[in-house]
Amino acid sequence: MDGQVKGLRGRVDLRVSIGSLDLKNPVLLASGTCGYGAEIEDFVNLEDLGAIVVKGISLEPRQGNPPPRLAETPCGLLNAIGLENVGVEAFIKEKLPWLRERGITTIVNILGNSADEYEELARRLAGNKGIHGLEINISCPNVKKGGVAFGTDPQQAAEVTKRVVAATDLPVIVKLSPNVADICAIAVAVQEAGATAVSLINTLLGMAIDIEQRRPVLGNIFGGLSGPAIKPVALRMVWQVVRCVDIPVIGIGGITTHVDALEFLMAGACAIQIGTANLIDPTAPVKVVQGVIDFMQENNYFSLQALKISS
Ligand SMILES: Cc1cc2nc3c(=O)[nH]c(=O)nc-3n(C[C@H](O)[C@H](O)[C@H](O)COP(=O)(O)O)c2cc1C
Repeated sequence: MDGQVKGLRGRVDLRVSIGSLDLKNPVLLASGTCGYGAEIEDFVNLEDLGAIVVKGISLEPRQGNPPPRLAETPCGLLNAIGLENVGVEAFIKEKLPWLRERGITTIVNILGNSADEYEELARRLAGNKGIHGLEINISCPNVKKGGVAFGTDPQQAAEVTKRVVAATDLPVIVKLSPNVADICAIAVAVQEAGATAVSLINTLLGMAIDIEQRRPVLGNIFGGLSGPAIKPVALRMVWQVVRCVDIPVIGIGGITTHVDALEFLMAGACAIQIGTANLIDPTAPVKVVQGVIDFMQENNYFSLQALKISS
């Protein structure tokens, strides 16, 4: 990788527009796996990627769940971080300037315990330079109050979306939970409420038990499963949602290589996010960009649109 990835590489056009959000390529870093950017600067040039989605931000700082918070599973990772974060004021003062000074396309993931909190977050973030979009996390399974209810009920998901959309001019991406019976019902509801795009999936609710100790491994008992284990589920949901909404769909879940990314792009995703793979190899997203370019050049696909399976 030469550190010079631009939207156009040879005859391959990787640029993506999501509402007013223009991305030089479709590879984004998923929230919670890349901190606020500075944490991974030694490993990856963020300017080579489409955008960073920063760690979920709440109105007040959050301590997160009691340890242990992580457990490895076959082909996956269980996390119960509990949305630890610095809070919106510290984010604006201490974290955002670093991203802004470097011109990094930044999407802020937000979480609240009520529609009022989501609206207030959108309002406080709206006027700040250096923020290019909001991603509403209505899907985290770790929070005992609030989050899980919004993501599993179409009416509540729509209400939160409506409130955020009204409070900002920024593009609003709604991040969907896979822990529902009918993901299309939620996707359609948030589209009707004004979402610019949807991203999916967040983690799948799971658990692990330590048989020697005879107790759950995670301090929170349940956690969110991510990584390659969830990719087939994520791909199936992205395929379904692409075919039931008209807004752009961002694919997330177990993407580790360019082959994974191409599967999501062929399913109809306009862009993809990489999460757990960053924790194993922080250079994975840059390798994915290069792998997608090579595949497209070798197979004469000149636009991301051309990759999509139409049926
Ligand atoms: C350690 C960890 C922390 C996460 N924190 C957040 C978060 O703050 N907000 C959010 O919307 N998703 C969060 N996620 C979910 C990821 O952004 C992503 O949706 C999920 O892990 C699936 O993608 P992956 O399989 O590529 O990791 C987190 C995931 C992990 C593993």
